[in-house]
Amino acid sequence: EDLCKGVKQLSENGLHRVPSKFILPVSDRPDTNVEDQNVVTSNLIQLPIIDFAELLGPNRPQVLHSLSHACEQYGFFQLVNHGIPDDVVRRMMDVCRRFFDLPYEERARYMTTDVEAPVRYGTSYSPTRDTVFCWRDFLKLLCHPLPDFLPHWPSSPLDFQKEAATYAERTRYLFLTLVGAILESLGLGIEGPNKDEREQEEVEDILKGFQDGSQMIVANYYPPCPEPELTLGIPPHSDYGFLSLLIQGEVEGLQIQHQAQWVTVRPVPNTFVVNLGDHLEIFSNGKYKSVLHRALVNAANSRISVVSLHSLPFTHTVRPSSKLVSEKNPKLYKDTSFGDFIEYLSTKEPKGKEFLDSRK
Ligand code: SIN
Ligand code: FE2
Repeated sequence: EDLCKGVKQLSENGLHRVPSKFILPVSDRPDTNVEDQNVVTSNLIQLPIIDFAELLGPNRPQVLHSLSHACEQYGFFQLVNHGIPDDVVRRMMDVCRRFFDLPYEERARYMTTDVEAPVRYGTSYSPTRDTVFCWRDFLKLLCHPLPDFLPHWPSSPLDFQKEAATYAERTRYLFLTLVGAILESLGLGIEGPNKDEREQEEVEDILKGFQDGSQMIVANYYPPCPEPELTLGIPPHSDYGFLSLLIQGEVEGLQIQHQAQWVTVRPVPNTFVVNLGDHLEIFSNGKYKSVLHRALVNAANSRISVVSLHSLPFTHTVRPSSKLVSEKNPKLYKDTSFGDFIEYLSTKEPKGKEFLDSRK
């Protein structure tokens, strides 16, 4: 069917209405301001700001404190002074845009339902499962180990592999440094006095896991949508891994759930939006939160976002850290591996991390 060709194709046909396949039930529709074609919503949120350069300097303790507050209260933060040259980010966004600009036949070469494929092009959120489609086309790249995957990535545009590889390596370094700081903010530093052997082992095990952990880059393309108030670019979800690093270009659209409301995260140049995934919530035994988020679309502009998702290797078991489980804080989640979790998510009616609730 034509819908499977993606929304870019639809949008280029000059539609005035969205096809019924995209129309959400009233209760799931975004609360957008329909008078404003740019879907500027009133509920803006200022995310906590984490200064990466400061995290590596003498003010580390204060920054760890802010980090911990952000992870508990928001599940999101905005990373500034991250050290990735503006140029690297801009070129990645640009080459992704040029990929989506390729003729449909070129993009379609990478269409597959195989979730382990090194490169996967597609549309909607989970096309085989979605009853209502969402207004997004995507390109997913497996990134680690790079030499295994890079040769399979799109060879057109000509500079795609080069730009995406640079971006993947830089974001991976950022992730590894950040996740170390997040463990430390949970009281699980690699060094320090009074570390018992078990704790030391646990921290080493997880940090070693991250060294060969999985990384996937997702480029999202949301073309202009004739009726943005009826549909979404990406439905409410939490990310399943540990940490996601997101760039949203200039056009806004990202919303997160904060204090039971949908609030808009405005794009800020030269920053990453970082959010915690389900596995980090589990590891922290619920102290840190993986928060629901979604993307709105708009009638005027196309929008691109690029997300780098970081997790442990597929077979690595994730469980609440022993340090964060006590009589007062009982273990809230079952042990699981990323592989089990993905398999669960692909079943008929997944409820995300709820299935890991050890109290059920
Ligand atoms: C995502 O959650 O993967 C995408 C969000 C966005 O496009 O801003
Ligand atoms: Fe997400």
